[in-house]
Order: sequence, then structure tokens, then C-alpha cells
Amino acid sequence: MLPPTEHSSLHGCPQQDRDKLEHSRLTRQFWFFHKNLNQGRLIYDERVVLAPDGVVLESAAGTDPHTRYLVPRTIPPSVTINAIDISTTLFPDPSSTPPNVHFSQNSILKVPDSWTSRFDFASQKLLAGYLTTSQWRLVISEFHRVLKPGGHIQLCEIDWNSWKMSKGPSDEPSRAYVEALMLKRNLPEDILMLLPSLLEECGFEDAKVEFGRSITIGIGEDGIEALRVSLNGLLRMKHGIQVAGIIQSEEEYDSLISSLQEEWDQGWGLI
Ligand SMILES: C[S@@+](CC[C@H](N)C(=O)[O-])C[C@H]1O[C@@H](n2cnc3c(N)ncnc32)[C@H](O)[C@@H]1O
Repeated sequence: MLPPTEHSSLHGCPQQDRDKLEHSRLTRQFWFFHKNLNQGRLIYDERVVLAPDGVVLESAAGTDPHTRYLVPRTIPPSVTINAIDISTTLFPDPSSTPPNVHFSQNSILKVPDSWTSRFDFASQKLLAGYLTTSQWRLVISEFHRVLKPGGHIQLCEIDWNSWKMSKGPSDEPSRAYVEALMLKRNLPEDILMLLPSLLEECGFEDAKVEFGRSITIGIGEDGIEALRVSLNGLLRMKHGIQVAGIIQSEEEYDSLISSLQEEWDQGWGLI
């Protein structure tokens, strides 16, 4: 029997409840990737060390749980962090935010002119579901503009190409739905492969792609968490897939999710 997920009851909820569900989905997903992809570090590359007066840009911050839990424990209070997002809905309560973290509503497609050469380090996670290739180019050139010479950038994304939903028969249809949605939205499927050349084009040097470890969905402690994160993510996509006309009915998608769940129970999924 699978655990209930944040998004299993989204439909028909008032907006406020949906925001709450999205908040808890993103927070859970954040900690999962933080542990398994970033290996529990805010700055993945251990060669990057912030100066005491360092300035950090956190783009597409979302619920940004690390400002409350990790920043006070791992970043000196003299370092300033500017967290931005196009939407303020998920921002944490200012009373729970450390004084060196400043949230503002901004799009990474165009950050303020006054931020040119302001930051030592810029970080962004999980924006692939929002940006076309030409928007990625814009975003990376904005990062390049706002970083100081010698500054560093860290981008974390899901690799759709090596994503294996299941070794069973549900892999192909679930990939097909996601791929059709990305195609409809003009989103690149291979952003991880494109990023090094886009970074170079925009003036960055020494770009490197590293992959997190694979986890068997549904098996063991991390696997159960992987299951919740994957399930929540797929359920969150349902509305978009339906609106794009990729499925004819909700039931069609729900039936695929049920089959996937059965395959995950057998340890056939990998994230
Ligand atoms: C999948 S969430 C990831 C949130 C967070 N980075 C994390 O790892 O939990 C994507 C976030 O990007 C934000 N976003 C989308 N387009 C953006 C843009 N152009 N500039 C800044 N934020 C954006 C959304 O509002 C959402 O909060």
C-alpha cells in the first residue's frame, strides 16, 4: 500500500489549499534533492569558498527551506543572500528568515540593472520545467552579468534522458506524456547536455556536469522518499498534460499512475 501524497487530493481545492500543497511538495522535494543530489551541501563544489563579505544570488527560490535551516548553520551571518522568485506565494514568513537573507519578487530573465557584478556565487535549482532554450540563454547571460569576475554559478536540474520511470511497461507511456508536454511548451529535453555550451557562449569557463547517484524508487528509506517525490511530481503535471490535450481524461492518467505504482512496488523504478 502506497503512502498518501501531497498532490493526491489537489482537484477541486481552493487556491489557498493548493498553495499549501505546493509548498509542502516543493519542500519535501527540496530536502530529497538536497540529500541525494547536492550531498547535503549548499555549495556543491568544495573548492568554492565564500569570503566573509560574500554575496549570493538564489534564483527561483520557491519555498527556499534552506534559508531557515541551512543558512544559519552553514553560512556566516556576514554573507548576504538575495533570494528571488517570480512569485511571492511560496516565500517563507519574513519572521522565520535570517537577517542576512533578502527575498524579492524578480524574474531571472531580467534582474535589476543595479545588480551588475554584485554576486560572488549564484545558484538555481529545478527551472527546466519553465524555460525554453532561448530563455535559458537569456538567464545564463543575466547570471554572467550579475556575477563578479571570477564568480561561480551552480545549476541543478533533472536529467530527463537518463530518467527511468520503470523497467516495466509503464515507462514508455509515462515518458511519452512528459515528453509531449515539454514539446507543447517548447522546453528542451536535454538541457543538461546543452548547458555547458550555453554557459561557454555566455562567457563562463570550466563548466562541468555531474550526476547524482541513482535511487531505486520505493525501496529503502531514500527509495520511499523518491517514490513520494516522483508521485507528487507526476500528479502535479496531470493538469498541464490534460489542458494540453495530451490525455483525453483524468482516468487515463490515473490508470497509468496506478500501473507505475505497482511497478515501483517491485523495485522497477529508478530516479
Ligand atoms: C520547481 S520550483 C523549484 C523551487 C526551488 N528552486 C527548489 O529547488 O525547491 C520552480 C520555481 O521557479 C520559479 N520561477 C519560474 N520562472 C521563474 C523566473 N523566470 N524567474 C524566477 N523564478 C522563476 C517558480 O515560481 C517556482 O517557485
